[in-house]
Amino acid sequence: MTEILYPNHNGTHHAATLLRQGGIVAFGTETVYGLGALSTSETAVRRIFSIKGRPAFNPLINHFSSAKAAFAETDMAASPLSRIAQILADRFWPGPLTLVLPRHPQSRICTAATAGLPSIALRVPKGEAIRRLLEQVGGPIAAPSANISGRVSPSTAEHVLAGLDGAIDALFDTGPCTVGLESTILDLTGDMPVLLRPGGVTREALEAVCGPVHFSGHNIQTSAPSAPGQLSSHYAPRLPVRLNATQIKEDEALMAFGQALPCPAAYIPVWNLSETGDLAEAAARLFSGLRFLDHASSCLIEQGISIRGIAVQPFPDHGLGLALADRLYRAAAPRPQDPASEECA
Ligand code: TXA
Ligand code: MG
Repeated sequence: MTEILYPNHNGTHHAATLLRQGGIVAFGTETVYGLGALSTSETAVRRIFSIKGRPAFNPLINHFSSAKAAFAETDMAASPLSRIAQILADRFWPGPLTLVLPRHPQSRICTAATAGLPSIALRVPKGEAIRRLLEQVGGPIAAPSANISGRVSPSTAEHVLAGLDGAIDALFDTGPCTVGLESTILDLTGDMPVLLRPGGVTREALEAVCGPVHFSGHNIQTSAPSAPGQLSSHYAPRLPVRLNATQIKEDEALMAFGQALPCPAAYIPVWNLSETGDLAEAAARLFSGLRFLDHASSCLIEQGISIRGIAVQPFPDHGLGLALADRLYRAAAPRPQDPASEECA
């Protein structure tokens, strides 16, 4: 049974105890809900992989209550970018930024959490509730997004339960996530910062602090990735997604941005990411929107009305638009069940 806990004194204490004992607890962060286990427990971390159906080669992000605790697990001397790491942490932690750095040879983080890589992904999430939880646990928490692998990430407690009720020990319900998209992942193991995943901290904001950041574009992969985190079918709703739509077909649902396009039929489900064209609002509403349109379309299909896809209106490609586009490109990529796709997580 999955216990529902709230971020009051008892709830936080109980969630921390469960985690310390090797339990699996989903919790809210400012980005999305995470599926947490003690980073130092190989057994607990393996359970996360099995609950999510996640391939073992795809490492997890480790969550800390402070930058000092996070950097203690890294081999800063082995990174030519250690000074940049420090500056970025000072500027963006706590917050939606994950740094990838060389793993310290004596790091307590278990091999399953890093997928055996010589690097480690670290983040200090923002929010009173999660900070208190991490402090009470007294050690790092490994947490991927709290969804079945390859499905839409959860930005509310209800989303978590929809996919994982009964499969996890507890859900620490901290309300809807304010950013609503996963953290930005920045690789600092080479000679230059590399953006592995656009997210809650924009590329522009990073570059203002640390100079040029390399980004190879939305290169969607379908097999074991060279840079983890680039699997194709992440964030996929059940219906295929069509991007940059300027007209809606009769058998499509609409994800609007700004002024909604005219719909050819009254039954067409519509979700507006942001009527005012605000990218932060759009980011916070994206995953709820994908779920809503999927669900509304399924109801119509049951009534015999054919809905075959989700059409997405264009939105700007700067700022948070880069992360929005990344999630939607992945949602639009071939599905695991498609013969075109080899990957199933
Ligand atoms: O906002 C977030 O980042 C959320 C919350 C819960 O913190 N977590 C999250 O985790 O999105 P997940 O597992 O869905 O995505 C983590 C990504 C994966 O794509 C993984 O490949 C990448 O981080 N990653 C982890 N360790 C890495 C490493 N050493 N090198 C490169 N990528 C890494
Ligand atoms: Mg995920």
